[in-house]
Amino acid sequence: MAELTGKVALVTGGSRGMGAAIAIRLAHDGASVAVTYRNGKEKAEAVVERIVAEGGTAIAIHADNADPDAAAEAVERTVRELGRLDILVNNAGIWVAGPIEEMTTQQRDEILAVNLTSVFSASQAASRHLGEGGRIISIGSNLASRVPGPGLTLYAMTKSALDGLTKALARELGPRGITANVVHPGSTDTDMNPADGPHADFQRQLSALGRYGTAEDIAATVAHLAGPGGRSITGAALLIDSGTNA
Ligand SMILES: NC(=O)c1ccc[n+]([C@@H]2O[C@H](COP(=O)([O-])OP(=O)(O)OC[C@H]3O[C@@H](n4cnc5c(N)ncnc54)[C@H](OP(=O)(O)O)[C@@H]3O)[C@@H](O)[C@H]2O)c1
Repeated sequence: MAELTGKVALVTGGSRGMGAAIAIRLAHDGASVAVTYRNGKEKAEAVVERIVAEGGTAIAIHADNADPDAAAEAVERTVRELGRLDILVNNAGIWVAGPIEEMTTQQRDEILAVNLTSVFSASQAASRHLGEGGRIISIGSNLASRVPGPGLTLYAMTKSALDGLTKALARELGPRGITANVVHPGSTDTDMNPADGPHADFQRQLSALGRYGTAEDIAATVAHLAGPGGRSITGAALLIDSGTNA
């Protein structure tokens, strides 16, 4: 029997990139999966169709994490439609970069809402449903611990805050047998940061392995944390960045 058989997972931002890879991997490992999307209805439906074609169960939910209440409502809808919640993956995120003098109030508020406040709100909603063995896994960034250049104030601020949130969740939910961890990817080949983009070779050079990560690399770590192998890992920040921050 697959490791996650009988479990239900919610992956925010599961329409493409890492979120889609994570949803497909968790379904492959036996979980029923809900994916949320903002604009990518068709891509989210394609992820669902692929999982169903492979014999799994999946649903797509529209939820814009710019509204933290929508992120929490996605948790409630997952429980209503799939019957329970065992694994929350806070993956949805946006990238904003540029000189601090030029950052707008709208950019500031949006990135805080999507990358941080919605992670809190979804985790809060999930904490009401998760039982023994429950998992909260958030996707941060290796820029949370090391910032290699200018222009990254907002993004690094939101991603580093996930470390504190994760440790506090681990302490608060640990007595109920629930783990909370943050996975910090380095450069990973997605629409956000394509491996053939203009800054890709520079990022490759920064890594110890000289390689760009794949969405499947991150999905493998999330699957480990979600499965029985993750039972003793909580409050941890895992760097999956090909050694960029080494
Ligand atoms: N790629 C990298 O090099 C890298 C490195 C470190 C960390 N990360 C982090 O990894 C996570 C996944 O990134 P990715 O590279 O897979 O990005 P991506 O290719 O840009 O995909 C982003 C996903 O998040 C969803 N999303 C964006 N804004 C949303 C919102 N307001 N509400 C709901 N969903 C929203 C998108 O949904 P729609 O398509 O429906 O809009 C999409 O499914 C993010 O948290 C990102 O910050 C990425």
